[in-house]
Amino acid sequence: MQVKNLLFSLGYFSVAWAQLADTSDYPIGPLTSSAAKWAAKICDITNYGAVADGETDAGPAILDAFNDCASGGVVNIPLGTFALATWVTLSGGNAWAINLEGIIVRTGTAGGNMIYIEHSTDFEIYSSRGEGAIQGYGYEFLSQGEYGPRLLRLYDVTNFAIHDIALVDSPAFHLTLDTCNQGEVYNMIIRGANEGGLDGIDLWGFDIWVHDVEVTNKDECVTVKSPANHILVEDIYCNWSGGCSMGSLGTDTDITKVVYNNIYTVNSNQMFMFKSNGGNGSVTDVTLQNFIGHENAYSLYIDAYWTEETLAAGDGVLYNSITFSNWTGTCADGAQRAPLYVWCPSTQPCTNIVIEDFAMWTESGSTEYYKCADAWGSGYCLHGGTEHTEYGTVTSTLTSAPSGYSAPTMPGQLTAGLGISTSIAIPTVPTTFFPGATPATARVYSG
Ligand SMILES: *[C@@H]1O[C@H](CO)[C@@H](O)[C@H](O)[C@H]1NC(C)=O
Ligand SMILES: *[C@@H]1O[C@H](CO)[C@@H](O)[C@H](O)[C@H]1NC(C)=O
Ligand SMILES: *[C@@H]1O[C@H](CO)[C@@H](O)[C@H](O)[C@H]1NC(C)=O
Repeated sequence: MQVKNLLFSLGYFSVAWAQLADTSDYPIGPLTSSAAKWAAKICDITNYGAVADGETDAGPAILDAFNDCASGGVVNIPLGTFALATWVTLSGGNAWAINLEGIIVRTGTAGGNMIYIEHSTDFEIYSSRGEGAIQGYGYEFLSQGEYGPRLLRLYDVTNFAIHDIALVDSPAFHLTLDTCNQGEVYNMIIRGANEGGLDGIDLWGFDIWVHDVEVTNKDECVTVKSPANHILVEDIYCNWSGGCSMGSLGTDTDITKVVYNNIYTVNSNQMFMFKSNGGNGSVTDVTLQNFIGHENAYSLYIDAYWTEETLAAGDGVLYNSITFSNWTGTCADGAQRAPLYVWCPSTQPCTNIVIEDFAMWTESGSTEYYKCADAWGSGYCLHGGTEHTEYGTVTSTLTSAPSGYSAPTMPGQLTAGLGISTSIAIPTVPTTFFPGATPATARVYSG
């Protein structure tokens, strides 16, 4: 089944996806099957001057191949190592795909985006044998205290899929979906250095399903930015990352109908963070369920006074109707940083926050605390009732582990972050991204 229609094929999706599907009846993913694209036309970059020698710049060949296949077909990047010395902007295109069989390695040093795809429809980038990767050699910049180009950015792309590839060691962000709609990202691994500014996936737009992705870096794992609606993120493994978040949010924030389901986070800054500093507009109708964490600094975390962001005009972003459900595991030091930390704007208190089945315990020490400030709703230190007025901060302290906090760990967890001074090897895409969960979509290549 190639076209997934939210309204008419709900049974095809997980329960969590059904939570989102209301008035939205847009098909997600490419509209044309990959087989039909292969049958239409194949533009192999080696026929346009690319050489798999790791030295010849493949940039112009990729652009020429795209121009020939932009109205239907497959830009084929065959097995081998192709250097990218000059960046490519692929603009337009319909019913086309990039088959990344080989490996693209960055050799150029310009800023910007190594691969930028814009104003495109019915698009797919994948590796039909599941071994394709983009290697950014970010360490060459990071070890000098600098950032370089971003790896892959889509802008204004509709009906797309990105899957079965690895994005490695970006000198800046790995994958950005800017104003993209009706897309799917899955069966992927992103592995960057242990440094801020190396975001895994940042996205905004509507009708996007991100699932079965592992991210290692030290910044955003899978993050939703404004404006966005109808976003489902599930079966995500933040393996020594920054963790997932929403933000930074500023003026005119407009996010609604977002579900995160089955999120496993280890050794990250947080399990989930909403971050804003001033601003206005709203985040509403969000569900964050089935989270497991270990060794994270923060866990459940709303920070409306996040001073790493410049103070934006406004009384504060309104956080309304946000449900946190079934969070288990452990945090690094719950006496130092509350695992349940809800700090709302005093001039715009949070409303209808629900926290249920939250059981997390500290790894060091024998106490932890919860903190709520100007947050209304139900559960733990939240204030109940309909006043929704400012009330300041309340905390509560736990001196014994909450029942049911124990949660499984993933195999092969990192015991240290990846440095910034040596190259990061290209990993294989894992076969599971959450304890006990099987990826929703089979690998494209099983052989
Ligand atoms: C947010 O604040 C800006 C600047 O003050 C204002 O122009 C805008 O209308 C406000 N938006 C909302 C949703 O209140
Ligand atoms: C809570 O999440 C765990 C996975 O972390 C899952 O096994 C369990 O079924 C969930 N419980 C409920 C009530 O959904
Ligand atoms: C987590 O990341 C580390 C370092 O990249 C890797 O060795 C380990 O295999 C990863 N875990 C899994 C389950 O992929």
